[in-house]
Amino acid sequence: WWDHVQPAPKDPITSVTQAFLSDPTPLKLNLGVGAYRDDKGKPVTLECVRRAAEKISGCEIFLAGHYMYAQAVSDTNGVIKYFRYTVGTPVIPDTKSRYLDVHSQSRWSAYLPTVYVLCLYFTLESTKATTKSKFVQDCVKLAYGNDSSVVREDRFAGVPALSGTGACRLFAEFQRRFYPDSQMFLPMPTWSNHHDIWRDSQVCTRTYHYYDPGTKGLRFQALVNDIKMAYVAELFRGQQYTLPCDDDSFQFANAPDRSFFLLHPCAHNPTGVDPNYEQWKEISHIFKIKNHFPFFDMAYQGIASGDVERDATAIRIFLEDGHLLGCAQSFSKNMGLYEHRVGCVSIVSWDDKQATAIKSQLQRIVRAMYSSSPVHGPLLVSTILNDADLKALWEEEVKVMVDRLISMRITLRQTLEELNSSSSWEHITKQVGMFYFSGLSPEEVNHLQRDFHIYMTNDGRISMAGVTRSNVDYLASAIHEVTNN
Ligand code: LMR
Repeated sequence: WWDHVQPAPKDPITSVTQAFLSDPTPLKLNLGVGAYRDDKGKPVTLECVRRAAEKISGCEIFLAGHYMYAQAVSDTNGVIKYFRYTVGTPVIPDTKSRYLDVHSQSRWSAYLPTVYVLCLYFTLESTKATTKSKFVQDCVKLAYGNDSSVVREDRFAGVPALSGTGACRLFAEFQRRFYPDSQMFLPMPTWSNHHDIWRDSQVCTRTYHYYDPGTKGLRFQALVNDIKMAYVAELFRGQQYTLPCDDDSFQFANAPDRSFFLLHPCAHNPTGVDPNYEQWKEISHIFKIKNHFPFFDMAYQGIASGDVERDATAIRIFLEDGHLLGCAQSFSKNMGLYEHRVGCVSIVSWDDKQATAIKSQLQRIVRAMYSSSPVHGPLLVSTILNDADLKALWEEEVKVMVDRLISMRITLRQTLEELNSSSSWEHITKQVGMFYFSGLSPEEVNHLQRDFHIYMTNDGRISMAGVTRSNVDYLASAIHEVTNN
């Protein structure tokens, strides 16, 4: 068995972290993965998340050296289905775990001292409003707008997803089931995992022009042409197996009417280049004429401008223009919930009847894949989004993260300019979000890794989240050195 299994090719993003971790040098820099770090290079737990965690778990109490964690889960009507508490040591909180029937008073009194009842009280209060379907509604409001007619008229179907990747994967599966011969048009370049997600879902991917390496900005006219008639760059580069589409003959092709397009509504990954308002309007207009279906992967809401509402502008334009659309949301970056894997996939429908059908199909896909999503992350998100103080705190904290990223962009650019390098560095501050798409060649990237222990993806994408006041000079002089040789 399994003799034929060869090692998988390395993932272009996660393999950077692996290489970084196996480098013994203390003076190393990880600018690979897009995960926010503070100015000391440490991962951040947002204060709003801490407070939400306190609210939903009720407590993390140390009692005579014991640790208690409590959680209650309610059904869609807010009726508590079960209450779970765990007693153990702080290090291994799961040493004893019991599920209690909360309606059984006798079991309660047998098991719960007063303090536990207090925990239960807080837990119940905060979970009543935060069921999974409530979570989907909260996500949709955040993406589509509180006063969106889609929300008012219940014209959406959505399910919680395992962060942005899970959301994209669910949509890709859904697309294949109901439009088996369709393709997904991806921007060139895009997050590398987009190719893998749609390929693994057996959906052919095509690319459309997006980034201009010459200007390090948007290749808008070429993008428009692609959407309209479209020149399509080649696909499935390096793919190991063929799908039922004639990709070999597909050097240039038209995007037929009713094509699926993946769009990054803000903080494009990897380029940091977003269309402006007028350009989004034009894209939306052409989509309307061509009857394309836009699927927005919104992994960075808030991380482009520091304002979660403003970062949803592209989606709101499409909604105003009357499009049906799909949306993947992730709370990894903007709430720092990376390892909790919290996200949502939603699809706008014509009416509530269609929404019900779509939702049931999404649920069916989920059921066969992983049955249901974990509840803790969605509870955290919903608790934040439904509490005015916590929401305001969250918005402030997003701004703090974004301000730090911007200030590192400014410092990196200034430092490089002070080194009198011949190149122009203005794109560092023109690009937005977590990444600076440097234009460094694979050789220069290797040089930085080999001689300076600076790690980034091979395409020259620099995660600004890894840049701090104490390493920015080092980074600038290393870039200066490799680009001036
Ligand atoms: C990235 O692009 O670095 C992030 O989206 C993390 C990931 O999973 O790839």
